[in-house]
Amino acid sequence: MKPSNGNNDFIVIKAIDDGVSVIGLTRGSDTRFHHTEKLDSGEVMIAQFTEHTSAIKIRGNAKIYTSIAELNSESNK
Ligand code: TRP
Repeated sequence: MKPSNGNNDFIVIKAIDDGVSVIGLTRGSDTRFHHTEKLDSGEVMIAQFTEHTSAIKIRGNAKIYTSIAELNSESNK
């Protein structure tokens, strides 16, 4: 799928714990979840922002690598 936002960058999510969720949110006036991917410890997802996806929510402990930041998401449980 060709990104429509002028940004071809990939984001990389590596799960630290089991049960990390990577949730894609829709582009446009209606912002809702359209896809949820579950990752177990050590699993990696490589994704882009696309004409369908304008935001990505990550729940659980994961390492996130993007062109603007490398950071950890954390679980409060
Ligand atoms: N069908 C989705 C899309 O083209 C697939 C996708 C791309 C996705 N990036 C994502 C799903 C990030 C979840 C998170 O937009």
